[in-house]
Amino acid sequence: MAGSNANDDPTTNSGAKTGAVPAEVIARAQDQIFAPGRSSRVKYQDLVVGRQGFAALAKHELVVMLCQGLAGAAGLALRKMMYPWVLGSCGRGVVFGQNVVLRHPHKIHIGNDVVIDDNCLVDAKGDTNLGIRIGNGVFIGRNTILSCKNGDIQVADGANLGFNCEVFSASRVTIGRNVLIAAYSYVIGGDHDFSDPAKAVISQPRVSAGVSIGEGAWIGAGAKILDGVAIGDHAVIGAAALVRENVPAGTIAVGIPARVVGSRSARA
Ligand SMILES: CC(C)(COP(=O)(O)OP(=O)(O)OC[C@H]1O[C@@H](n2cnc3c(N)ncnc32)[C@H](O)[C@@H]1OP(=O)(O)O)[C@@H](O)C(=O)NCCC(=O)NCCS
Repeated sequence: MAGSNANDDPTTNSGAKTGAVPAEVIARAQDQIFAPGRSSRVKYQDLVVGRQGFAALAKHELVVMLCQGLAGAAGLALRKMMYPWVLGSCGRGVVFGQNVVLRHPHKIHIGNDVVIDDNCLVDAKGDTNLGIRIGNGVFIGRNTILSCKNGDIQVADGANLGFNCEVFSASRVTIGRNVLIAAYSYVIGGDHDFSDPAKAVISQPRVSAGVSIGEGAWIGAGAKILDGVAIGDHAVIGAAALVRENVPAGTIAVGIPARVVGSRSARA
């Protein structure tokens, strides 16, 4: 859908926590991959294509085989033409780098003038989720992963995610307009219940409250943003910070755990 606006919902926030989803809706990947009685093709379509039926599989495989790994200008041109065939919607002037992998692509919506650099994974996996919305003018650096497990991710207009970042959502993660996320950062929009000490953590339910990052915020290199956190508009998070609590708008927070050490207005 050329020219569609991928950001109808505003993603600015003023620090409110996002809503939790019931833990039982988040299936483990292993359970899905090794579930008995289902063919490899059915599992592949569940996990990767996101739709059953031969037509959906054939279209997906055609796009992947012909252009996903193709280097150079020919690859860029073919992906620009063919990736929108499988996407939910895709605007004008979108660049898909080499080996950009799309999972459940019909739930991925991309605005205009977006760059998704080489080796990114955009994974809208889930049975009941809406998926991933990327606004206009967004840049996603190489090797970055946007990953849903029955959650949604919204990246608003003008946001810039550096290389080797991960944004994970098992409920809802929103990244506001003009947010800058430096390389190697991890937005962890989901967690594990570990309340039963007798059980492996992986065997316990997953929980997720989501993460929101307000517009104009800057996340320093290698920062980790834990589930349930809301970072206010124009806040600054120092390099390597571990953010466990909400960060008010316009403040500067650093360290492990991150603590507010100043406000941007005090320095203006
Ligand atoms: C957070 C940041 C912006 C603060 O810059 P600043 O205001 O010039 O920092 P200051 O030098 O005034 O430091 C204030 C205090 O915070 C501490 N501090 C600053 N950055 C820190 C960090 N990332 N982690 C831990 N402590 C930090 C300082 O040591 C100082 O502590 P003190 O008062 O006890 O001496 C900066 O340090 C930073 O981390 N920038 C991110 C850089 C980056 O990731 N760039 C990627 C390119 S997109």
